[in-house]
Amino acid sequence: MGPVSAGALSGGAPSPAELPESPAVWCSGLRKRYRRQTAVDDVSFTVRRGEVLGLLGPNGAGKTSTIKILLGLVRADAGEVLLLGRPARDPLARARVGYLPELFRYQPWLTAAEVLALHVRLAGATVPDPQRRECLATVGLADRAGDRVGGFSKGMQQRLGLAVALVARPELVVLDEPTSALDPLGRADVRDLLLGLKERNVAVLLNSHLIGEVERVCDRVVILDKGRVAAAGTLGELLGGRELRLRLGGVGEAATARLASAGTLHRSGDTFTVTLPADHDADLVPRLVADLVAAGVRVHAVEPSRVSLEQRLLDILRASSEGATR
Ligand SMILES: Nc1ncnc2c1ncn2[C@@H]1O[C@H](COP(=O)(O)OP(=O)(O)OP(=O)(O)O)[C@@H](O)[C@H]1O
Ligand SMILES: [Mg+2]
Repeated sequence: MGPVSAGALSGGAPSPAELPESPAVWCSGLRKRYRRQTAVDDVSFTVRRGEVLGLLGPNGAGKTSTIKILLGLVRADAGEVLLLGRPARDPLARARVGYLPELFRYQPWLTAAEVLALHVRLAGATVPDPQRRECLATVGLADRAGDRVGGFSKGMQQRLGLAVALVARPELVVLDEPTSALDPLGRADVRDLLLGLKERNVAVLLNSHLIGEVERVCDRVVILDKGRVAAAGTLGELLGGRELRLRLGGVGEAATARLASAGTLHRSGDTFTVTLPADHDADLVPRLVADLVAAGVRVHAVEPSRVSLEQRLLDILRASSEGATR
C-alpha cells in the first residue's frame, strides 16, 4: 500500500498529484475465439509501472493474441483493458506505448533512420534528431543508420524494431519475442536495455521462449497454456524457496543445530543442503557462514541454487495437460 494522501484523510477529492499511479496494463476477463479455436480464455493480469512482466507459454498458448488485444490490434470477444489508466483505444494512451511486433518487416526501400523518422511521425511524437541517433546507437545500429533496411539481416531488422518501439520514450513497452533473431551479444544488450528501462520506471511486457532470459530480467511472470493463465506470480513465488548447498568439515553438534535453524537440513557425507524459507532475509547466508566459522567448522563451499524457471514451466505445463486429459 502506498502512503495515505492528505486528500484522502481530509475527505476532500485528491488532487491528480495525489492519485496513486495507475498500472501500466490492467486487463480482466479477456476472451478471443477464432472460429472453433479458442485463443484467449479468461485472461486477467496487471503490469505495474517500472515492472518487467514476462508472458510465457508454448506455441499457440495465446501470448501474441493477448498482446494484440491489449494494444487494440485485435478485437476481444469479451474483457476490459486499461493502458496507463486509460481505455486501450484512447490515442493518449497509445501515444505512450512502444511495441515490437512478433513478425517485423520494415519498408525495404527506406534507410534505418528513415524508418525511425516515419514511426515517430506516425506516433504523432516529436523526437529530436540527436535522440533518434542515440536510439539507433542503443540497439547497435549507429553505423547502419543510412543503409537501406532491405539489405539488413534478420537480427538487424529486429534491432531496428526495438529502436522503433523505444524511440518516442514510451511509458509502457510491449515486446513480442524481442530477441528471437538476436545473437548472444545482442541478447545481453537487450537485457541491459530492459534493466535501463526499469530504472526509468518504464513498464515492460515481454514474451519470449528464452526462459533463462526471462528469469534474469522479469519481476513477475504469467504462464499461459491453451489460452488460460496456468500460473502467475513473482519469480520467488513461482520458484519457491532457495536451497543452499554447503561442503563442510568438522561439523559438531552445535554447528548442526545452527544449520538446522536456518531451514530444513539434509546431510549426505560432507555436503549439507539447507532449504531456506521463501521470505528469508538477505543476511541469512553471511550470518550462517560467520557462525559456522566461529564454531570451528571448515567451510569449503557455499552454493545457492534453486529450481530453474524452465523446469518449473515444464512442470506447470505438464500438470496442466494431464489435468486436461483426465
Ligand atoms: N488471425 C488468426 N486467425 C485464426 N486463428 C488465429 C489467428 N491468430 C491466432 N490464432 C490462433 O490462436 C491461438 C493462439 O495463437 P497466438 O499467436 O496467440 O499464440 P502464441 O502464444 O503467440 O504462440 P507462439 O509462441 O507460437 O508465438 C493459436 O491456436 C492460433 O492458431
Ligand atoms: Mg506469438
